[in-house]
Amino acid sequence: MSKALWGGRFKESMSEQVADFNQSIEVDARLFYQDIKGSIAHVTMLEKTYIITSDEANQIINGLQDIIEDYEAGNVTFKKELEDIHLNIEKLLIEKIGPVGGKMHTARSRNDQVATDMHLYAKEMTEAIITSIKALQHVIIDLSKQYHTVIMPGYTHLQRAQPILFSHHIMTYFWMLERDKARFSEGLKRINISPLGSGALAGTTFPIDQQYTASLLEFDDVYANSIDAVSDRDYVLDIMHNINLLMMHLSRFSEEIILWCSEEFKFVTLSDAYTTGSSIMPQKKNPDMAELIRGKSGTVAGNYMGLLMTIKGLPLAYNKDLQEDKKGFFDSIDTALQSVQIFTGMIDTMEVNAAHLTDITQNDFSNATELADYLVTLGLPFRDAHEITGQLVLYAIDNNILLKDIPLGHYQTVNKDITNDIYTKLNPEHAVNRRINDNGTSTKSVMKQIAKAEKCM
Ligand code: ARG
Repeated sequence: MSKALWGGRFKESMSEQVADFNQSIEVDARLFYQDIKGSIAHVTMLEKTYIITSDEANQIINGLQDIIEDYEAGNVTFKKELEDIHLNIEKLLIEKIGPVGGKMHTARSRNDQVATDMHLYAKEMTEAIITSIKALQHVIIDLSKQYHTVIMPGYTHLQRAQPILFSHHIMTYFWMLERDKARFSEGLKRINISPLGSGALAGTTFPIDQQYTASLLEFDDVYANSIDAVSDRDYVLDIMHNINLLMMHLSRFSEEIILWCSEEFKFVTLSDAYTTGSSIMPQKKNPDMAELIRGKSGTVAGNYMGLLMTIKGLPLAYNKDLQEDKKGFFDSIDTALQSVQIFTGMIDTMEVNAAHLTDITQNDFSNATELADYLVTLGLPFRDAHEITGQLVLYAIDNNILLKDIPLGHYQTVNKDITNDIYTKLNPEHAVNRRINDNGTSTKSVMKQIAKAEKCM
């Protein structure tokens, strides 16, 4: 095994098994670009502060750029025995430009280096997630507009409650996503801070300029405390928490879609492109994408809990345990991005069975509140109106009819003031469009809601 870059004080080398256990290159190779970006900023600063010469800086920066070219041409293979992305790139550099490459690591430690890479990556991924959420929100707005006046049963306890607009129902998810977006954006202020120059933990004796590297990397500030800078992973947990909420929202929406595309509900039909068949039952069309997203919301919750448990007992400052911050984090990021994108395509291509939705609200008891409200307008206290309506529902159930089928004569035995207009009140469309309060389900209110949503985009 070749000598490690830190091998000076060692007489014996690691066994292959130990080296394999110790390495993280299989996971952190994805920080390749961030690592080089951080190194170029660092070396630019070393030159500006006369810690290295311009010639040395140029050689190093050109070398790093060549490594990017080699990498993109497929000519770079990372080595497990070089542990991680940082040491792999440093070794490639030294092989390319000679011992001057060893000057790159002046006034730096892998501890502030890896923290810098992670901040850069966290920032890029947060921005990518925000962009993908926006695309999903656009599709929700489009769907709401397309099926704007379609009425569906609204549920509580998964029991039909009151008729609502389909657009009103799905716009709920717009606002959940709006909060997700806000949480990711808000987190940026804690991500957008530079740990570079903190060294291993204590800072450095070299006359570095940390504000300069921070500005080169477009960070807003530098950590106030070098020990905090190298041991902080709060921003990683922050993102993972935000991903949990995002995935929980997608999971709830997925659950509804899974129900809605069943034979029992038939509210929507998913496109073939987002469903799968069964290896035995030829009639099946399964909503696998929605199920996977619902399932993966559990996996990302586990990732979050895993890192929280890894960090909770760590003494300051850097400990190798922190190398475990990446696997679950990267998995959660990948899952979030893929899930949002796939979910977007799935609902964009889904058909809403508008006629069926409208039809079923004509044939249920979700208009019972209308009857109670109507009795209130005749002067009854709501509690009495509720009781009487309950008895009328029971009467209808016993006679296998609906509220709209109860003859006026029978209504009038309950309350003599009831007139023919009760039947208009019982109409679901009427029920929906009378709910004109600001955030209610009337066509008018939902139009206003959609306009408000569009302003957020
Ligand atoms: N691969 C390491 C990690 O991801 C890099 C930092 C190593 N630092 C150290 N002192 N061994 O955490």
